[in-house]
Amino acid sequence: MSDAILQARGVTKRYGKFTALSGVTLNIARGTVHSVIGPNGAGKTTLFHVLTGTLPITEGSIVFDGHDVTKEPDHKRVKRGVARSFQVTSLFANLSVRENLRLAAQGVDSVRALNTWTPPQGALAHTETVDSVLERLALQRLSEVSAGALSHGQQRRLEVGMALAARPKAIFLDEPTSGMGIDDLDDMKQLIRGLRDDYTVVLIEHNMGIVMDISDTITVMQQGRVLVEGRPDEIRGDERVRSVYLGNMITGGRA
Ligand SMILES: Nc1ncnc2c1ncn2[C@@H]1O[C@H](COP(=O)(O)OP(=O)(O)OP(=O)(O)O)[C@@H](O)[C@H]1O
Ligand SMILES: [Mg+2]
Repeated sequence: MSDAILQARGVTKRYGKFTALSGVTLNIARGTVHSVIGPNGAGKTTLFHVLTGTLPITEGSIVFDGHDVTKEPDHKRVKRGVARSFQVTSLFANLSVRENLRLAAQGVDSVRALNTWTPPQGALAHTETVDSVLERLALQRLSEVSAGALSHGQQRRLEVGMALAARPKAIFLDEPTSGMGIDDLDDMKQLIRGLRDDYTVVLIEHNMGIVMDISDTITVMQQGRVLVEGRPDEIRGDERVRSVYLGNMITGGRA
């Protein structure tokens, strides 16, 4: 068996006449942090949409964990172990941190999850999952606090936890640090780095300090194509990357 958990081959995505992804080939190795970077509009989020099944592709193929998932919708890929972080708005502000995680652990159908006839065995199994996620997020002490009362940084960690509660094999994080202050940034960085021991992480991130520190592999995208791929030290020194993207970012600016 290949050590790639995900293999995308010649993936093309068109929105009408506009080509957002053009023949993207990507291998994500198991147990790594694989970052996708590139200027605004490069196609990073579109790539996540097609890899997680949120959007169908126009051409190409996607294999996840040995299965051809090219034509599978997102809920099928979730069952295979694909998870992506939710946006802040998908947290239930009035429910506690623990209840949010329990809903995520019980599955995507939150209405069904709220029913009280959930079998006790299932509920117990979920308690273990939720406790381990709470520990990983360092939110144990806040488990009974409502999600809406958390700080922005804590909410962003909880979003990562919502994805983890589904016990995925690979987790896709689209700009998990956006809008964060410096203290929260470091917490998120440690959290993501720690995920690598148990999951595969695919990360879109504009903060170059974080990308360079925690990535095993970096794919640089430009205008819907893969420009270059390599280890952080290779990417940092690549002239093509510097010229399109990194030059102003490595010195502290945002794209
Ligand atoms: N639903 C859509 N219909 C048409 N064009 C779209 C749609 N979604 C995205 N695009 C276009 O596809 C291109 C890639 O967008 P995408 O959101 O994937 O970029 P990105 O790399 O994630 O950018 P950012 O760093 O700003 O998040 C952009 O030119 C965008 O305008
Ligand atoms: Mg994006």
